[in-house]
Amino acid sequence: MMQAKQLKYNKLSFISEKQLAEHYILYNGYINKLNETREKMRNADLKLANATLSELRSLKKSETFALNGIKLHEHYFENMGENKTQPNNDVFKLINEAFGSYQSFKEEFAATALAVRGWVILAYDLDEKKLRIFGSDSHDNGVVWNCVLLLILDVYEHAYFMDYGTGRKKYAEAFIESINWDAVNEVAKKHNLK
Ligand SMILES: [Fe+2]
Repeated sequence: MMQAKQLKYNKLSFISEKQLAEHYILYNGYINKLNETREKMRNADLKLANATLSELRSLKKSETFALNGIKLHEHYFENMGENKTQPNNDVFKLINEAFGSYQSFKEEFAATALAVRGWVILAYDLDEKKLRIFGSDSHDNGVVWNCVLLLILDVYEHAYFMDYGTGRKKYAEAFIESINWDAVNEVAKKHNLK
């Protein structure tokens, strides 16, 4: 059984306690649904598997939707913070190589937040050996395999609407200024990205 992780904070300077609490409820829902899906999968009739309509098909679709929802939320909750942290030398170098400058990276990241409906993802593509900013409309749509996820921004309305209304740009800009780079640096270090 997967368990929901506790948040390390109740609120942040750019996200209110109420907004965050509602967001956590949704995250917790994905945990429950993943557990329920995997429980049902144990009893699904494999002989009836069919790509147009079958119980196993719908369970497999539910599993990746819920699991990606969990992974993306946990990474997002981890990589936002309060401190004025900095990309370490390796991450800074990767950003410069991929985007030309830190400023260009910030501009593309914020613009992507307006161009997609679900997630903005800074990832290192292990095949291209390069950082990319990917956008995705839902948890299980727009996935690029064999990438290390470094920085995640949730741009679903539930992530910001109470605090920012329709001001998604303001929210994205506030997020960018509040990134917990220590968390990002740690992922890069773990995978020896440089
Ligand atoms: Fe979310």
